[in-house]
Amino acid sequence: MKKFIINYKAYTEAIDKGLEIASAASKISEDTGVDIIVAPPFTLIKEIAKTTKTITQGLDEVEPGAFTAHVTWYEIKKSGAVGTLLNHSERRYSYSKGGPIAYQELKKAVDFCRQNGLETYVCVQNIEEAEKVLKFRPTSIAYEPPELIGGNVSVSSARPDIVKEFCDLVKAQAGVLPLIGAGIKTAEDVKKSVELGSEGILVASGVMKSNDFRSAIIDLATPLR
Ligand code: G3P
Repeated sequence: MKKFIINYKAYTEAIDKGLEIASAASKISEDTGVDIIVAPPFTLIKEIAKTTKTITQGLDEVEPGAFTAHVTWYEIKKSGAVGTLLNHSERRYSYSKGGPIAYQELKKAVDFCRQNGLETYVCVQNIEEAEKVLKFRPTSIAYEPPELIGGNVSVSSARPDIVKEFCDLVKAQAGVLPLIGAGIKTAEDVKKSVELGSEGILVASGVMKSNDFRSAIIDLATPLR
């Protein structure tokens, strides 16, 4: 079953239309058999998770305890989410803006999730990062070149060679799924992603900024059937 993650990010639409988008996503998932998962803002997780497969947009690598403004695996589990995105380009697992990835902490977050039955979707910006993250055995690794995020040129048409190399690399490790994202807006973009070996897609603006989010979700889900 191919995966389609809708990352709500912090768009106003995430709050204003978040529940409607989630209920459309779960209906279309049932109709198409595509595993559609939404990643809403934290304040909507509990409500949306009642009806729709939900992950959070991030997680901190701490156990429950005295950690102000941290989000623990325990909180997301109790809220009904099934997992989390990690290391998204807009929220790198790093202790300084633009600094190196804190791999040990990222591994800790993946381990906490695995030990507690939560899925992990770890984003990477290139093959080198994918090689490192693969050792942590997350549920999935998502290749998203940052310069294409939010634009109209998809990762599958702009970087076909890297997408293929990435998918082959990840598939060589049993049990980890390769996903790709950035600039995916059309069914043709999705078709190309699958041809290159991807097991699914991550999309934000193509759904969140669409005038007709229902049709956008149907269009993007159909090639994943
Ligand atoms: O996580 C998905 C995201 O970063 C891709 O964004 O707007 O290019 O679909 P967008």
